[in-house]
Amino acid sequence: MIPYGKQFIDEADSEAVIQALKSDWLTTGPKVAEFEQNFASYVGAKYAVAVSSGTAALHLACLAGGLAKGDELITSPMTFAASANCAFYCGAKPVFADIHKENGLIDENLIEEKINSKTRIIIPVHYAGLPCNLEKIKEIADKHNLTVVEDACHALGAEYKNTKIGDCAYSDMAVFSFHPVKHITTGEGGMVTTNSERLYEKLLALRSHGITKDRNKLLNKEEGPWFYEMQELGFNYRITDIQCALGISQLAKVDEFIEKRREIARKYDEAFSGINKIEIIKEMANRKNAYHLYVIKLKDNEDRLKLFNHLKKNGISCQVHYIPVHWHPYYQNLGYKKQQCPNAGLFYQRIISLPIYPGLKNEEQEKIISSIKNFYAG
Ligand SMILES: Cc1ncc(COP(=O)(O)O)c(C=O)c1O
Repeated sequence: MIPYGKQFIDEADSEAVIQALKSDWLTTGPKVAEFEQNFASYVGAKYAVAVSSGTAALHLACLAGGLAKGDELITSPMTFAASANCAFYCGAKPVFADIHKENGLIDENLIEEKINSKTRIIIPVHYAGLPCNLEKIKEIADKHNLTVVEDACHALGAEYKNTKIGDCAYSDMAVFSFHPVKHITTGEGGMVTTNSERLYEKLLALRSHGITKDRNKLLNKEEGPWFYEMQELGFNYRITDIQCALGISQLAKVDEFIEKRREIARKYDEAFSGINKIEIIKEMANRKNAYHLYVIKLKDNEDRLKLFNHLKKNGISCQVHYIPVHWHPYYQNLGYKKQQCPNAGLFYQRIISLPIYPGLKNEEQEKIISSIKNFYAG
C-alpha cells in the first residue's frame, strides 16, 4: 500500500540517534540547544524552543501569549483539532472564522467580525503548506492589540513574501510539529519560534514545570547552590536529546525534502490540468507552498468516496484533511453548529489528500496518476 505520507530516515539519522544514546545525555542536553539554534537559524527567527509535540507547542504559545479563562481565540475550522483545542487547555474558547473555498486557508476578511473584548489570540493555519495572508492578519491583530500565533505545522520551508515561515515577521510566535508525516521528524516533537525575548523566557519556563535554576531569576537568593524555584505552573513538555539528535540530522536535509515535495506537486498539477472534474489548489504570488499535503478538490462531491475506494483497491492510501474541527462530537456537544462555517463544510466534502513524501518513487506517482485518470475515463 502506498501511504499518503511517510518519514524519510537514512543512515546519518540512525547514526545520530545511536551517538545520542551513547552520550551522557538522554533528555535535555546539548542536542536540544543545538537543534533549537539550527532551527531558529533555518527559519530566520531569534529564538526557538523545542518541545514534546506540536500540540504542546500550541498550548505553550497560547499560555505565553496570555490566553486565560474566559478569553477567546480565533482560528480556522480547516485544520487538525489541536489548533483549536489549545484554547480549551487554557480555559478559553476557540472561535472559527470560515475559510477561502479555493484553498482552505482562513479567510482574513472574516476575522475582524469575530473579534470582541474577549479575543486575545489569532491562530492562522498554513493549511497543507500554503501560507495565509499574514500581512492582512497582522494588520488586524495590531489594530485590536491581539497576539498572532502561526500554526506552521504544515509549513516548514514555506515562504511568504520572500521570508521563511517561522521567522515571525508577521506574528508573535510560530508553531511546528515533527510528527513522522511532517517535513522533518523527531518521532514526536514540536517547536515554537519567536523574536521576543520575553516570550522565549516564558516558553522555556513553561516547558519544564515553571521551574527556574537561574540564580539571577531566583526570588530567594539566600539558599545554597542546589536551590531552584517553581515560580509558575508549567508542564513537562520537554523533548529528549535522542529526538533532537534525529531532528538535527533531519533538518540538514529539509531543503531537499521540500524540493522533492514541490517536484511531486508539480507533476500532479500537470497531470490533473486536463481533468475538468479535478480542481487543484494553486500556489499564489509571493507564497511558496511547502506541500505538507497535496490536496485535490473534486467538482462532484459524490465522486469522493468512489475515488477514495478506487485508489484503495489499487493499493493507494489517501486521506481527507480535514473534517472541520467544529463538526467533531466534542464541539457539537458544546453547541458549535455545523453550518456556522459553510465554506469549510463544502470544502471538506470535495477534498482528498494524495500521497506526497520525499521517498515516493516516480513509478508510484505514475501509478497514482494513472489510477485517477482511469477512474475518470471509466
Ligand atoms: C495543523 C496542525 N496543527 C497542530 C498539529 C499537532 O501536532 P502534533 O501531532 O505534533 O501534536 C498538527 C499535527 O498533525 C497539525 O497538522
